[in-house]
Amino acid sequence: MTESLGVSLLGAGNVGGGVLAALAAGAERYAARVGRPLEVRRVLVRDASKRRKGVSKRVLVDSLDAVLVDSRTRIVIELMGGERPAFDYIRRCLESGRHVVTANKEVMAKHGGELLRTAAAHGVRLLYEASVGGGIPIISPLSRDLLANEVTAVTAIINGTTNYMLTAMAQRGSDYAGVLAEAQRLGYAEPDPTADVEGIDAAYKLAILCGLAFHVDVSPADVTRRGITRLTARDFRYAEELGYAIKLLASGRLIEGELVASVQPVFVPKAEPLARVDGVLNAVQVEGDLVGRVIFEGPGAGPMPTASAVLADVLDVARDLVASRPPSETIAYRPVVVRPSSKVVSRFYMRVTVLDQPGVLARIATILGKHDISIASVIQFETDARSGTAELVITTHASPGGELEAAVKEITALNVVSEVGNVLPMVGA
Ligand code: NAP
Ligand code: HSE
Repeated sequence: MTESLGVSLLGAGNVGGGVLAALAAGAERYAARVGRPLEVRRVLVRDASKRRKGVSKRVLVDSLDAVLVDSRTRIVIELMGGERPAFDYIRRCLESGRHVVTANKEVMAKHGGELLRTAAAHGVRLLYEASVGGGIPIISPLSRDLLANEVTAVTAIINGTTNYMLTAMAQRGSDYAGVLAEAQRLGYAEPDPTADVEGIDAAYKLAILCGLAFHVDVSPADVTRRGITRLTARDFRYAEELGYAIKLLASGRLIEGELVASVQPVFVPKAEPLARVDGVLNAVQVEGDLVGRVIFEGPGAGPMPTASAVLADVLDVARDLVASRPPSETIAYRPVVVRPSSKVVSRFYMRVTVLDQPGVLARIATILGKHDISIASVIQFETDARSGTAELVITTHASPGGELEAAVKEITALNVVSEVGNVLPMVGA
């Protein structure tokens, strides 16, 4: 009988449970693909006394040391989540000579460079396909299949919870609070939805993608971030009339060698493929000088799609172990200058509630003109006879974000302006 290859898990929650179920159900095919059966040696959880479906009590442990003392564990799969103690645990596993597979975007976004160097120093691999886009293959394509390209842009929808919410707002005219409550009821949004709705989760994932795509050191703090909490049903109605979808876009580009990275709600023309990515689906669009534009789309979360990505990494490492192949050198990242959003040029959508009086539009247009911002279209959508106000929707030609911000400040101060609502970038020249 061929000797098994030991695998241990840190975490047996949603994804860990899926990985364990898939390992059990697919044991024969994985053995055939690797050349040796995989054996689950230890499963670290907080509460080892709790019964878990499909997990033998014999393998449950509640301390990392109980995993590290097992000399037959060659691969550790980290599925605990959060920054700490996951970061320290991954480091200790690598230092002990174990290969590590992780789905942890927060750890990889904040500490990926350090951990990859630790892995290299100890002759082991650290793989993280599941950390971005759940079941969608994107880390491996960026690291390998697209490596010959100069990648010019990565544009992605990489948070399923918010994409579900924005799709519901667009299709049903619902308001933000209603769709959030629904997403929580369906189990898409956490009881504390901050990481998803404020774009924090997407910023972690974008930092990882930008590092891989451009071979530069990117931290989540380099990503300009704005969440979806201020979007209203009216923004969606106006977007529809103008021929756009509103998406929480994660976008990374190198412009004249400087990094421009943002996660924010953006007007996307309906003809663009990303405008049609709806519900909990994720999609990542990569533009390269050789390949042109490629799009990876699929389920960005869920136990089984995420297990698919986790196990792809496990099988990859396991095959190397069986073949005694040493890990290949990782590509060193270089430091990069981050271009401030005030210098980033874009078209903009702006919703302004004004007094419905003569000369108001002219005053707004004068301020925009003073800042060299050219108006592309103006539509007066709503008038409210009772309050004597009207709602103007203005779109601009491409202008620097800093000029627009200064103009918005002046427009807000006008005594004929009741409110400047959302100001959002628009995709397109
Ligand atoms: P989860 O359901 O909360 O499971 C976490 C597991 O880790 C639990 O089994 C928990 O033990 C264990 N754990 C947490 N802290 C621990 C500690 N300090 N010591 C020992 N065990 C600890 O999380 P999940 O949804 O499976 O997510 C796991 C990872 O996958 C995260 O990094 C997440 O971002 C990533 N991911 C998730 C999805 C998804 O669809 N959920 C998709 C892509 C990536 P107990 O069971 O005893 O509490
Ligand atoms: N909370 C994430 C999302 C799933 O909604 O896409 C895990 O990455």
